[in-house]
Amino acid sequence: MPLVRVHNFSISLDGFGSGEPQSLEAPFGHAGERLHEWMFATSFWDPEAGRRGVDAIFAARHEVGIGAEIMGANKFGPPGWQDDPDWRGWWGEEPPFHTPTYVLTHRPRPPLEMAGGTTFHFLDASPADALAVAREAAGDLDVRLGGGASVVRDFVAADLVDHLHLVVVPIVLGRGARLWDGLEALEDTFDIESVSSPSGVTHLTFTRRG
Ligand SMILES: NC(=O)c1ccc[n+]([C@@H]2O[C@H](COP(=O)([O-])OP(=O)(O)OC[C@H]3O[C@@H](n4cnc5c(N)ncnc54)[C@H](OP(=O)(O)O)[C@@H]3O)[C@@H](O)[C@H]2O)c1
Repeated sequence: MPLVRVHNFSISLDGFGSGEPQSLEAPFGHAGERLHEWMFATSFWDPEAGRRGVDAIFAARHEVGIGAEIMGANKFGPPGWQDDPDWRGWWGEEPPFHTPTYVLTHRPRPPLEMAGGTTFHFLDASPADALAVAREAAGDLDVRLGGGASVVRDFVAADLVDHLHLVVVPIVLGRGARLWDGLEALEDTFDIESVSSPSGVTHLTFTRRG
């Protein structure tokens, strides 16, 4: 059975996946780029100059064996993008997904076909129903859950996630979109491993027990 995977989801020590307020100018709010500096320094992000160590190895797993992505409305655009008929996501005309990509939103719109194999589909559906649609599109490949925090939290709460890779960044944000609220006892259903990187981040993997 193909898996539901989360990769490179970066959180602060206090569990925030973004700061606040989210906006066009500051997509991660007061967190700025601090949650992802570890990734920008890798060869995954910068093949010429990036480091090729443990962070790069973890980061590259994001790409392998994925047939569809699901993301939340707040990852797709800043607050209010639903009122802008011309909004096509943050990523330009060739987004880095290269698969059908399902945007969960209470205000769906017609699909957007982009260059490079990404088509954004807009779904107002429960996590289980959205996953059924994404699985159908992904075929034998896995479905990646791309974030943000509230969508990852909802899918974990609904017991729909098989593999969750978190990157704990040693900063304290204090406010924003928090991953952990309402979740408990994940250690009962997942094997949890951690790897400390020389860069200062900690990679945590939650793998569903067989
Ligand atoms: N730290 C990381 O690695 C990482 C990764 C990805 C994204 N991010 C960042 O995280 C932030 C977004 O996270 P977030 O927690 O605020 O929001 P989010 O998870 O991206 O999106 C939540 C929104 O999606 C819509 N939604 C969710 N479930 C739905 C359902 N079942 N049916 C219909 N609509 C549904 C709702 O929007 P509406 O009601 O408005 O339709 C909801 O408010 C952004 O700043 C993004 O850049 C961080």
